[in-house]
Amino acid sequence: MKYLIANWKSNKNSQEVEIWFSQMKKKFTENPAIKIDRLEIIICPPYPYLPQAAKLISKYQLHLKLGAQDVSSFPAGSYTGAVTAKMIAEYAAYTIIGHSERRKYFKEDETQLSAKVIMAKDEGLIPVYCIANKQNQIPEEVTIVAYEPVEAIGTGTAETPEKASEMAMAIKQNKDIKSVLYGGSVKPVNVNQYLKANGVDGVLVGGASLEAATFWEMIVNASSV
Ligand code: PGA
Repeated sequence: MKYLIANWKSNKNSQEVEIWFSQMKKKFTENPAIKIDRLEIIICPPYPYLPQAAKLISKYQLHLKLGAQDVSSFPAGSYTGAVTAKMIAEYAAYTIIGHSERRKYFKEDETQLSAKVIMAKDEGLIPVYCIANKQNQIPEEVTIVAYEPVEAIGTGTAETPEKASEMAMAIKQNKDIKSVLYGGSVKPVNVNQYLKANGVDGVLVGGASLEAATFWEMIVNASSV
Protein backbone atom coordinates (compact mmCIF):
# COMPACT_ATOMS: atom_id res chain seq x y z
CA MET A 1 0.00 0.00 0.00
CA LYS A 2 1.31 3.44 -0.98
CA TYR A 3 -0.10 6.67 0.44
CA LEU A 4 -0.81 9.71 -1.65
CA ILE A 5 -1.91 12.54 0.62
CA ALA A 6 -3.16 15.89 -0.62
CA ASN A 7 -2.73 18.73 1.84
CA TRP A 8 -4.68 21.72 0.57
CA LYS A 9 -3.54 23.89 3.49
CA SER A 10 -5.52 27.19 3.74
CA ASN A 11 -6.71 27.16 0.14
CA LYS A 12 -10.01 26.92 -1.78
CA ASN A 13 -13.58 28.01 -1.24
CA SER A 14 -16.64 25.77 -1.45
CA GLN A 15 -17.08 26.41 -5.17
CA GLU A 16 -13.48 25.41 -5.85
CA VAL A 17 -13.93 22.29 -3.75
CA GLU A 18 -16.96 21.37 -5.87
CA ILE A 19 -14.97 21.91 -9.08
CA TRP A 20 -11.96 19.89 -7.86
CA PHE A 21 -14.07 16.82 -7.07
CA SER A 22 -16.13 17.04 -10.25
CA GLN A 23 -12.94 17.27 -12.31
CA MET A 24 -11.58 14.25 -10.45
CA LYS A 25 -14.79 12.36 -11.14
CA LYS A 26 -14.42 13.18 -14.84
CA LYS A 27 -10.82 11.87 -14.89
CA PHE A 28 -11.83 8.61 -13.23
CA THR A 29 -14.75 8.18 -15.62
CA GLU A 30 -12.56 8.82 -18.66
CA ASN A 31 -9.91 6.36 -17.42
CA PRO A 32 -11.82 3.35 -16.11
CA ALA A 33 -8.78 1.06 -16.46
CA ILE A 34 -6.63 2.91 -13.93
CA LYS A 35 -5.49 0.58 -11.15
CA ILE A 36 -5.51 2.33 -7.83
CA ASP A 37 -6.39 -0.46 -5.39
CA ARG A 38 -2.84 -0.37 -4.05
CA LEU A 39 -3.03 3.37 -3.39
CA GLU A 40 -4.52 5.01 -0.32
CA ILE A 41 -5.40 8.46 -1.63
CA ILE A 42 -6.29 10.90 1.14
CA ILE A 43 -7.56 14.43 0.59
CA CYS A 44 -7.11 16.93 3.43
CA PRO A 45 -9.28 20.01 2.84
CA PRO A 46 -9.69 22.84 5.35
CA TYR A 47 -12.15 21.93 8.16
CA PRO A 48 -15.24 23.74 6.76
CA TYR A 49 -15.12 21.66 3.56
CA LEU A 50 -14.87 18.22 5.15
CA PRO A 51 -18.66 17.61 5.09
CA GLN A 52 -18.89 18.88 1.49
CA ALA A 53 -15.92 16.73 0.41
CA ALA A 54 -17.44 13.68 2.12
CA LYS A 55 -20.73 14.23 0.24
CA LEU A 56 -18.98 14.64 -3.10
CA ILE A 57 -16.85 11.52 -2.62
CA SER A 58 -19.95 9.52 -1.88
CA LYS A 59 -22.00 11.10 -4.69
CA TYR A 60 -19.29 10.44 -7.30
CA GLN A 61 -18.23 7.12 -5.70
CA LEU A 62 -14.60 8.12 -5.71
CA HIS A 63 -11.85 5.89 -4.35
CA LEU A 64 -10.65 8.69 -2.07
CA LYS A 65 -10.41 9.05 1.70
CA LEU A 66 -10.52 12.18 3.80
CA GLY A 67 -8.18 13.61 6.38
CA ALA A 68 -8.05 16.79 8.46
CA GLN A 69 -4.98 19.02 8.52
CA ASP A 70 -4.90 19.30 12.29
CA VAL A 71 -6.90 18.36 15.38
CA SER A 72 -7.51 19.92 18.78
CA SER A 73 -5.37 18.74 21.67
CA PHE A 74 -8.45 19.19 23.89
CA PRO A 75 -11.71 17.26 24.28
CA ALA A 76 -15.15 18.83 23.72
CA GLY A 77 -15.74 21.84 25.93
CA SER A 78 -14.81 25.48 26.34
CA TYR A 79 -11.93 25.72 23.88
CA THR A 80 -12.99 28.47 21.50
CA GLY A 81 -12.03 27.87 17.92
CA ALA A 82 -10.77 24.33 18.41
CA VAL A 83 -12.05 21.42 16.32
CA THR A 84 -12.12 18.11 18.16
CA ALA A 85 -11.19 14.66 16.94
CA LYS A 86 -14.78 13.57 17.49
CA MET A 87 -16.04 16.24 15.10
CA ILE A 88 -13.47 15.31 12.47
CA ALA A 89 -14.19 11.60 12.82
CA GLU A 90 -17.72 12.21 11.51
CA TYR A 91 -16.17 12.86 8.10
CA ALA A 92 -12.54 11.77 7.98
CA ALA A 93 -10.41 8.72 8.74
CA TYR A 94 -7.06 10.51 9.09
CA THR A 95 -5.59 13.66 10.49
CA ILE A 96 -2.25 15.32 9.88
CA ILE A 97 -0.55 16.30 13.14
CA GLY A 98 2.55 18.42 13.69
CA HIS A 99 3.00 19.86 10.20
CA SER A 100 5.98 22.23 10.24
CA GLU A 101 3.64 25.14 9.50
CA ARG A 102 1.68 24.33 12.69
CA ARG A 103 4.94 24.23 14.63
CA LYS A 104 6.21 27.46 13.09
CA TYR A 105 3.17 29.73 12.85
CA PHE A 106 1.04 28.33 15.68
CA LYS A 107 3.90 27.50 18.03
CA GLU A 108 2.75 23.93 18.59
CA ASP A 109 5.18 22.06 20.78
CA GLU A 110 5.78 18.38 21.36
CA THR A 111 3.65 18.20 24.51
CA GLN A 112 0.70 19.61 22.61
CA LEU A 113 1.37 17.38 19.60
CA SER A 114 1.43 14.26 21.78
CA ALA A 115 -1.92 15.30 23.25
CA LYS A 116 -3.29 15.64 19.72
CA VAL A 117 -2.17 12.11 18.87
CA ILE A 118 -3.99 10.77 21.93
CA MET A 119 -7.16 12.69 21.05
CA ALA A 120 -7.05 11.46 17.45
CA LYS A 121 -6.47 7.83 18.41
CA ASP A 122 -9.24 7.92 21.03
CA GLU A 123 -11.71 8.75 18.27
CA GLY A 124 -10.31 6.24 15.81
CA LEU A 125 -8.59 8.81 13.61
CA ILE A 126 -5.26 7.73 12.16
CA PRO A 127 -2.59 10.35 12.79
CA VAL A 128 -0.12 11.19 10.04
CA TYR A 129 2.60 12.65 12.20
CA CYS A 130 4.96 15.12 10.54
CA ILE A 131 8.57 15.56 11.47
CA ALA A 132 11.11 17.86 9.86
CA ASN A 133 14.29 16.23 11.14
CA LYS A 134 15.70 13.61 13.46
CA GLN A 135 15.41 15.94 16.44
CA ASN A 136 11.61 15.95 16.34
CA GLN A 137 10.29 13.31 18.74
CA ILE A 138 7.64 10.88 17.56
CA PRO A 139 4.90 10.24 20.15
CA GLU A 140 4.04 6.70 21.14
CA GLU A 141 1.28 4.98 19.17
CA VAL A 142 2.09 6.83 15.96
CA THR A 143 2.27 4.38 13.05
CA ILE A 144 2.46 6.74 10.05
CA VAL A 145 5.15 9.40 9.90
CA ALA A 146 5.61 12.05 7.22
CA TYR A 147 9.17 13.23 6.89
CA GLU A 148 9.15 16.77 5.55
CA PRO A 149 12.39 18.75 5.56
CA VAL A 150 11.41 22.42 5.97
CA GLU A 151 13.69 23.64 3.18
CA ALA A 152 11.89 21.37 0.69
CA ILE A 153 8.35 22.55 1.49
CA GLY A 154 6.85 24.81 -1.15
CA THR A 155 10.27 25.67 -2.58
CA GLY A 156 10.40 23.47 -5.66
CA THR A 157 13.64 21.99 -4.33
CA ALA A 158 12.80 18.50 -3.14
CA GLU A 159 15.14 16.43 -1.05
CA THR A 160 16.78 13.64 -3.05
CA PRO A 161 14.99 10.27 -3.01
CA GLU A 162 18.23 8.78 -1.60
CA LYS A 163 18.14 11.08 1.42
CA ALA A 164 14.42 10.52 1.87
CA SER A 165 15.06 6.79 1.81
CA GLU A 166 17.89 7.03 4.34
CA MET A 167 15.69 9.02 6.69
CA ALA A 168 12.75 6.62 6.19
CA MET A 169 14.94 3.65 7.12
CA ALA A 170 16.25 5.47 10.19
CA ILE A 171 12.69 6.32 11.32
CA LYS A 172 11.67 2.69 10.86
CA GLN A 173 14.22 1.64 13.46
CA ASN A 174 11.29 2.45 15.71
CA LYS A 175 9.29 -0.74 15.30
CA ASP A 176 5.93 0.99 15.92
CA ILE A 177 6.33 3.01 12.73
CA LYS A 178 4.73 1.05 9.92
CA SER A 179 4.84 3.68 7.16
CA VAL A 180 7.02 6.66 6.35
CA LEU A 181 5.98 9.22 3.77
CA TYR A 182 8.09 11.90 2.17
CA GLY A 183 6.81 15.47 1.72
CA GLY A 184 8.32 18.59 0.17
CA SER A 185 7.97 19.73 -3.46
CA VAL A 186 6.60 16.42 -4.71
CA LYS A 187 5.30 16.82 -8.27
CA PRO A 188 3.97 14.46 -10.95
CA VAL A 189 7.48 14.25 -12.46
CA ASN A 190 9.25 13.14 -9.30
CA VAL A 191 6.53 11.29 -7.38
CA ASN A 192 7.60 7.84 -8.55
CA GLN A 193 11.20 8.38 -7.49
CA TYR A 194 9.93 8.68 -3.93
CA LEU A 195 7.39 5.90 -4.17
CA LYS A 196 10.14 3.58 -5.39
CA ALA A 197 12.70 4.68 -2.78
CA ASN A 198 13.52 2.03 -0.22
CA GLY A 199 11.51 2.49 2.97
CA VAL A 200 9.30 5.25 1.56
CA ASP A 201 5.61 4.31 1.65
CA GLY A 202 4.04 7.38 0.14
CA VAL A 203 4.07 11.12 -0.31
CA LEU A 204 2.47 14.16 1.29
CA VAL A 205 1.71 16.73 -1.40
CA GLY A 206 0.94 20.41 -0.92
CA GLY A 207 1.08 22.72 -3.95
CA ALA A 208 0.75 19.98 -6.56
CA SER A 209 -2.53 18.77 -5.06
CA LEU A 210 -4.45 22.01 -5.57
CA GLU A 211 -5.22 21.57 -9.26
CA ALA A 212 -7.23 18.43 -9.94
CA ALA A 213 -5.41 17.90 -13.27
CA THR A 214 -1.99 17.95 -11.63
CA PHE A 215 -3.04 15.69 -8.79
CA TRP A 216 -4.63 13.34 -11.30
CA GLU A 217 -1.30 13.14 -13.14
CA MET A 218 0.30 12.19 -9.87
CA ILE A 219 -2.29 9.44 -9.31
CA VAL A 220 -1.70 8.09 -12.83
CA ASN A 221 2.08 7.99 -12.29
CA ALA A 222 1.74 6.47 -8.82
CA SER A 223 -0.61 3.80 -10.12
CA SER A 224 2.24 2.31 -12.14
CA VAL A 225 4.61 1.84 -9.17
P1 PGA B 1 4.63 21.20 -0.98
O1 PGA B 1 4.12 21.04 0.52
O2 PGA B 1 4.27 19.94 -1.71
O3 PGA B 1 3.89 22.40 -1.50
O4 PGA B 1 6.10 21.39 -0.93
C1 PGA B 1 4.27 19.83 1.20
C2 PGA B 1 3.67 19.95 2.59
O5 PGA B 1 3.83 20.98 3.23
O6 PGA B 1 3.01 19.00 3.06
